[in-house]
Amino acid sequence: MSFKVRIVQAERTIEVPTGATILSSALDAGLSYPFGCQSGNCGACKSHLVKGEVTMEGYSEFALSDEEKARGLILACRAVPWEDSEVAWLEEDDLIVHPRRLLDCEVVGLDDATHDIKRVRLKIVSGGPFDFSAGQFASVTFEGCPPRDYSMANVPGDPILEFHVRTTGGATSAHVAEKLKVGDHVRVEGPFGPSYLRETHRGPIIAVAGGSGMAPIKSVIERALQQALPQHIYFYFGVRSERDLYLHDHFAKLAETHKNLHFIPAPRSAARMATRRWPRRRQRRWARRRSPSPTASPRPVPPRAWSRWR
Ligand SMILES: Cc1cc2nc3c(=O)[nH]c(=O)nc-3n(C[C@H](O)[C@H](O)[C@H](O)COP(=O)(O)OP(=O)(O)OC[C@H]3O[C@@H](n4cnc5c(N)ncnc54)[C@H](O)[C@@H]3O)c2cc1C
Ligand code: FES
Repeated sequence: MSFKVRIVQAERTIEVPTGATILSSALDAGLSYPFGCQSGNCGACKSHLVKGEVTMEGYSEFALSDEEKARGLILACRAVPWEDSEVAWLEEDDLIVHPRRLLDCEVVGLDDATHDIKRVRLKIVSGGPFDFSAGQFASVTFEGCPPRDYSMANVPGDPILEFHVRTTGGATSAHVAEKLKVGDHVRVEGPFGPSYLRETHRGPIIAVAGGSGMAPIKSVIERALQQALPQHIYFYFGVRSERDLYLHDHFAKLAETHKNLHFIPAPRSAARMATRRWPRRRQRRWARRRSPSPTASPRPVPPRAWSRWR
């Protein structure tokens, strides 16, 4: 048994089998429905329930607040219809939809970015060209592994795709860490995701990342610089310790040549110090020395000065 669900923007009605979510059925039907985590955590698939009834599977309040729910908003990745329905994803004036591609790629580069992050470089063998917006992700299938989502770290148009894969101990990242080798074939499907650089935006760009979350931010920043976007870009990169810091020289060099880029490594120890109960005068002195104001032009921290940050 299934229900009919009309997707307003796609001007299509899809069949959603009993127990299936609207998003999974829309993607199966080949629609470019906006989505991200597919697990009710990011809010990228937030939609208006125009007509009908759905049951919502578990989701995070960050993705959909009670107030939004009361206004008739749902998360398509968590919404299971139990009657014929109609939904419309949230409109964004400048939502760019790139053609979805299925690429056969070959690993042409593999190195350790940090103790637990591998940098994987892929050459497109067939299925291209691969257009995407800086910040988007793809579904990547390594041989013998389940597909997983990874963000492109390269700028759109680069002949080589770059991914940063952090080892979590799970199936795919363990394969990348231990078994992947140059010459292996990898399937890449995408691009996906509504989180990307709006190139017409002129306000400051505040980019915050930690670990392999560097990947989409690297793409966004490099694209913004490549397009000579004039606004200030503040890149805060959170790390637990020195061994988690990577591409430091790369961003320090970029910040030297682009006066609007401010690269600010943010070690956990600095955050811990900031929350210490210190006398107010000492807090102010520490903050002046350690925390550059977002309106000033903070200098990047050279690796040799790292010990002073701890
Ligand atoms: C939009 C998006 C973009 C992403 N971009 C990136 C990126 O650029 N780089 C990146 O590194 N990651 C990224 N991720 C995360 C990535 O998709 C994977 O989730 C991640 O690599 C883990 O996959 P895995 O197969 O290695 O782990 P899985 O096998 O899926 O396991 C997930 C976690 O559960 C744990 N686990 C697995 N089995 C068990 C068990 N039996 N008992 C207890 N714990 C268990 C694992 O240790 C692991 O921590 C992104 C995710 C999304 C949604
Ligand atoms: S895709 Fe992330 S909440 Fe639905």
